[in-house]
Amino acid sequence: MAKWGEPPATWDKAALHSFIIRVVNSVLHDNDLESSPINESQDLFEQGCNSLQATYIRVAIAWTLCQAPTTKVQFKHLPTRVPQNLVYYHPTIPSLVAYMDAILHSVEEEAAGEPDRSTRTTENMHMLVEKYSQDYPTHHPIGTKGHSEILLLTGSSGRLGTYLLQNLLCDDRVDRVFAVNRQSAKLRLVAVNISEEDLGLDQELLQEICVSITSIIQNAWRVDFNLSLSAFGSNIQFTRSGLNLALKTQTPVPAQFIFTSSIGTVANWAKPGPVPEAPLTDPGLAIGSGYSESKWVSEQLIIAAAEQRGLKATILRIGQLASSIQNGAWNTTDWLPLMPKSGATFGVLPSFSRCVSWLPVDKAAQSIIEVMHGRATESRVDLTYLNVAHPHAVHWDLILESIAKTLHCELVPSHEWMQRLNESADRPTDIEGNPAIKLLDFFRRACASSEGIEDNRGYERKEAMGVPDLETAGARARSETLGQLRPLDQKDADRWLAYWINRGLFSF
Ligand SMILES: NC(=O)c1ccc[n+]([C@@H]2O[C@H](COP(=O)([O-])OP(=O)(O)OC[C@H]3O[C@@H](n4cnc5c(N)ncnc54)[C@H](OP(=O)(O)O)[C@@H]3O)[C@@H](O)[C@H]2O)c1
Repeated sequence: MAKWGEPPATWDKAALHSFIIRVVNSVLHDNDLESSPINESQDLFEQGCNSLQATYIRVAIAWTLCQAPTTKVQFKHLPTRVPQNLVYYHPTIPSLVAYMDAILHSVEEEAAGEPDRSTRTTENMHMLVEKYSQDYPTHHPIGTKGHSEILLLTGSSGRLGTYLLQNLLCDDRVDRVFAVNRQSAKLRLVAVNISEEDLGLDQELLQEICVSITSIIQNAWRVDFNLSLSAFGSNIQFTRSGLNLALKTQTPVPAQFIFTSSIGTVANWAKPGPVPEAPLTDPGLAIGSGYSESKWVSEQLIIAAAEQRGLKATILRIGQLASSIQNGAWNTTDWLPLMPKSGATFGVLPSFSRCVSWLPVDKAAQSIIEVMHGRATESRVDLTYLNVAHPHAVHWDLILESIAKTLHCELVPSHEWMQRLNESADRPTDIEGNPAIKLLDFFRRACASSEGIEDNRGYERKEAMGVPDLETAGARARSETLGQLRPLDQKDADRWLAYWINRGLFSF
């Protein structure tokens, strides 16, 4: 262990605090003493911590706990008992100190912080809604409404955003697109500071946007299922800035606001039947990952702006996006490709007796634009909820069979695959070759809820991986693309696999 990871001289709280400060600063700043120290109360992932650095911090803590003279809880194999996602669960310096202190002086369950996690998270979700839903600007109507759209699109550098931008630029009904992104070396469009009032836009450009935009598609988001709610503060702030902008427009009506939310906000749906296309304001439905909790918070801000200021908004609960129909490009770091990657190691892939409704990303982009055009002509309703998923579910095994065949894997009951993954996670050296371990908790939850016996009063859930079934009639009615989509088949799976092989995901 490097010098910065050496155990503290004593084991009181102050010594643990100094130890964590030393470890975190050394890992995040790579021992660069010139860098400004880490902010103690802010989420480490908001300060640039990445998954590799989180692993280093976890290893230093696990190793140090092994050196402690006494632990009230006697961990036989302590390093592997420390959760893989330790830093994600405890993403600030005080919470890491509290974790170590609890392990050393208290009881294991308390250390894991599980019993009251959902209560604390619910409180934090409500607290964020309260904080960011105050004092919305009032819209002052100016001029008369024209026929064409002028758009402000966020997140155009991402997977869905790229297709949204491409389709908007080819769309005759759209006059102009302001593509608003963080500063990027690759793309130079309108660069903004998402944490500043009015996004830090210069006054001239802000004025140009305010007098012209008719719609905002708020699509930018940090897509990471490991992070806690506190890591999404800047995303929530960004949503609020977008809402302010929509209401401050000097146009006949506020710019319509379209939010690419997620099926994650209804992950815990347990009623018999599919999720309706309607607001569901119970935070408990979203609890489980900071990603979906933060999307839920943003949805509440949008609902509040619609109720208080008459904003016209559409919230899209988007299901899993698949690669585009055109080219099979599906990011190799997503959860799905990590499954065949692990399969190539174990020789097995999970089978589920359920379906998937994954929507090709280019078709999702087109359907969002169709919804936008339709919404612009509908003026009665302030808030619309639509579920955006593939309208034809296909059997999981049909899709996975083809991948399994090419990789010479056998399809086995999902609990058997999960068992192999758990065993692999207990071998610290496996993580490089088997990155599915990084999403261990996600896979555990998904497999458990796919297999569990559900009390769903006679309703048989269709979707695999614990994903709730979605009602999509409203989205289909508003999007011709969704209405006419062909089902996914094995040829699609072959294209994804060819892409992953080309990108060097497998070592054969
Ligand atoms: N992919 C899915 O299956 C899925 C499912 C449901 C909902 N969605 C939603 O659809 C949207 C697009 O997803 P995607 O798959 O296209 O994601 P993606 O490829 O990761 O793209 C995310 C976009 O958001 C920007 N972004 C990320 N973090 C940001 C931050 N902190 N501040 C400002 N901008 C930030 C990225 O900009 P940089 O280039 O600067 O990083 C990028 O343009 C997201 O809102 C996501 O939640 C996706």
